[in-house]
Amino acid sequence: MKVLVSDSLSNEGLEILKEHFNVDVCTGLSEDELVEKIKGYDALVIRSGTQVTQRIIEAADNLKIIGRAGVGVDNVDVDAATKKGIIVTNAPEGNMISAAEHTIAMMMAMSRNIPQANASLKAREWKRNKFMGVEVKGKTLGVIGLGRIGSEVAKRASGLEMNLMGYDPFISEKRAKELGVKLATVNEIAKEADYITVHTPLIKETRNILDDEQFGLMKKGVRILNCARGGIINEEALARAIESGKVGGAAIDVFVEEPPFGSPLLNFDNVIVTPHLGASTQEAQVNVAIDIAKEVVSVLSGGPAKNA
Ligand code: NAD
Ligand code: MLT
Repeated sequence: MKVLVSDSLSNEGLEILKEHFNVDVCTGLSEDELVEKIKGYDALVIRSGTQVTQRIIEAADNLKIIGRAGVGVDNVDVDAATKKGIIVTNAPEGNMISAAEHTIAMMMAMSRNIPQANASLKAREWKRNKFMGVEVKGKTLGVIGLGRIGSEVAKRASGLEMNLMGYDPFISEKRAKELGVKLATVNEIAKEADYITVHTPLIKETRNILDDEQFGLMKKGVRILNCARGGIINEEALARAIESGKVGGAAIDVFVEEPPFGSPLLNFDNVIVTPHLGASTQEAQVNVAIDIAKEVVSVLSGGPAKNA
């Protein structure tokens, strides 16, 4: 059987696949190239770089499984795949600690202006007054989406002695209590929080969950984080709220379009950005590569898909 890996995958995962299948690694393919290339393959393994469109799925004549080495399957046309009987599966656990740690790193970097101060000193400036920061202790963090990553963020923020509010329609009071999170609506979080971070999937219910209405309700100086998916926060609305001075800072790892070279968010000094690095640690990449390789082996051997 043949497996096509169209985004970079750690060797640990590739080795597992190679024990069972013929594996081709071809990264950076355009949609047209992938439409040609996909023919004959039994499995396609991707990260976030490959957009698996309806055209690619229609062109696939032997495909049984699309395996996403990571969490979000928003880069796959899941409906088109399902209609063709192709399993879409992911590796949801391997990168959750890395994504949570990145969120905390971004929150601290934003609070203490670390990227701006770093750039300033390297430009041979010594401006200690310019980079006055704030403590997070005693501040309220609103967490929207309390699944794997949101919960890990909450636990870590609790260790930083922050107060926690959260919104997730599928979390129980008991679980929220265990995490030390006061459950609230999105608008209540908007009104009360000093920091707001989103950790939901990008689906129709969560697209633009923070929009002009919510920014209007927020405290002046609120700080916003998105290390989940571009589009959960309306980027234009966020830009307007930064422009008006309502939002005091933002830390953004993910964008509606990636790379986000046209995004208005890149123009503000008080917005810190990273190029979708939430899962970019050695540990996470080994974990997700192994998990997705095992999933592909299972499915192509007639076994179950754990995360379909
Ligand atoms: P998860 O499925 O474990 O958690 C998502 C949570 O969102 C669930 O608890 C769910 O109940 C909740 N949710 C669903 N609909 C909601 C709604 N309408 N309002 C509020 N909450 C809602 O997923 P996860 O592993 O925690 O991942 C969270 C996000 O982070 C995903 O978008 C994922 O793609 C992204 N992610 C990004 C990176 C990165 O590199 N930046 C890395 C890993 C994951
Ligand atoms: C994910 O959803 O797992 C992340 O976007 C990480 C990635 O694969 O880049």
